[in-house]
Amino acid sequence: MKDSLARLRAEAALCTACPLYRNATQTVFGEGAASARLVLVGEQPGDQEDLSGKPFVGPAGAVLDKALGDAGIERKSVYVTNAVKHFKFEPRGKRRIHSKPNAGEIKICHQWLAREMAVIAPAFVVAMGATAAQSLMGKTVAVGKLRGREILFPENQRGLVTVHPSYLLRIPDRESKAREYRKFVADLQLAARLAGA
Ligand code: URA
Repeated sequence: MKDSLARLRAEAALCTACPLYRNATQTVFGEGAASARLVLVGEQPGDQEDLSGKPFVGPAGAVLDKALGDAGIERKSVYVTNAVKHFKFEPRGKRRIHSKPNAGEIKICHQWLAREMAVIAPAFVVAMGATAAQSLMGKTVAVGKLRGREILFPENQRGLVTVHPSYLLRIPDRESKAREYRKFVADLQLAARLAGA
């Protein structure tokens, strides 16, 4: 049977392909319309995404929402997803501290991203951060080298690589933070223009 996003979401909810499902609350699948021309890919759900079941609803999501607004892009017009669909964390007291997914977890979870992309067939995809870029490229890439210009991902998928919104949250210096934020907004604007969105 042909994949649909609803079918994929239901299947992914039962995914046990890597051990990350054991400690996570639930699979956090992508969100948005199958007709979206632009797909944004992040790393993995964080604490709040894990609890709510929705991508980019926590602090990184707030940065993304603001940047989308400043870029003139409506969030509901794009499809937002992650390279890895379960929250990976280390327990520290009552807190759950984000832990970076490894190459094996990224590779195993790529099936879901690949199937989302096959259903949506977007005009353009934005890899936000190294994990998303690695998943889409099938190898590790240096974000700084590729950032901000159109590239071809495997299978002739047009897109670009930019930073992850949580990188912007971690920049301590106000001026650098503002400059990097403007570059992120410019990358989103370029992506929307190239997507014809
Ligand atoms: N960071 C991500 O990469 N994805 C989310 O959904 C939330 C935070």
